[in-house]
Amino acid sequence: MMLRSVELALPEAGEAARFMTEIWGMAPGGTRGGAHYLRGSSRLPYLLALHEADSRFVRSITFTGTREELEHLTERVQASGLPVIETIAADPGGGRGIVVELPEGELFRFLTETEDVEPIAGRDLPVKLTHVVLNSRDAEATANVAEQSLGFRVSDRTKGMVFVRCNDSHHSTAFARAGYASLNHIAFEMEDMDAVMRGIGRLRDRGLTPAWGPGRHGPGANIFAYFVAPFGAVVEFSTAVEKVADDHKAGAQEDWTWPPGRIDQWGLSTKDIGALEEAERNFCFRREWTPESLRVGAGSAGIR
Ligand SMILES: [Fe+2]
Repeated sequence: MMLRSVELALPEAGEAARFMTEIWGMAPGGTRGGAHYLRGSSRLPYLLALHEADSRFVRSITFTGTREELEHLTERVQASGLPVIETIAADPGGGRGIVVELPEGELFRFLTETEDVEPIAGRDLPVKLTHVVLNSRDAEATANVAEQSLGFRVSDRTKGMVFVRCNDSHHSTAFARAGYASLNHIAFEMEDMDAVMRGIGRLRDRGLTPAWGPGRHGPGANIFAYFVAPFGAVVEFSTAVEKVADDHKAGAQEDWTWPPGRIDQWGLSTKDIGALEEAERNFCFRREWTPESLRVGAGSAGIR
């Protein structure tokens, strides 16, 4: 399986899409039923969907895999008893699959038979999403469900997070020990460190400084810079996270402690914890959802 896209709902989605294309550095991937689709340089038709709605929430986090992977996953999820429905995606790239509800209301969508688009050149476009981190009331319990019901694997544990992989990348998602359930951040994978740095410069031109970074993380070893986007989400410029072997032994909290005064490998980064924690509460999950509410164009009106 691979992480493919995130679908957010929010008021003034068009404004948010303008920020992501004109400043952050994505390319338009079309609009459909009140949703703005934003793409990177790769074959994926979009990485981020912004659906017009009355309030902010995460509609879904989408993964794709082969037909076989989806079949195995569907059996596994059904056996585990998690809420699950079959779905046909109306987003660019289409595909069919399932939507699974995790314990704290997170909707993970798994698709197969999706269509790709031609890659485009652009040295400052993200390549893809590298990871999406979610805040949890009980990160260990949620990670356990991801392992048991989805076949994901825990790669590392820190004081703050449980890092989870769905392929050989160290993590495609992580569950933060936040005490509440919401979107923590979305990380865009840039071509290399220079592309991350140019991204920081581009935002600095508009008066925006990183809420955390630049720096290099411990788990995953990616270079990072986090910003609070004007539409309220925390977004990250990142390099690729490291690859791990199938028999990778998950690190424990005590394996990931920093010397005093340090919060990244370089010892450079400063962190605006207040600004980040405030923004990390902006996009929550909707527990009351229906197959109809997930259709493109449903916005929040379709949520009962
Ligand atoms: Fe991150």
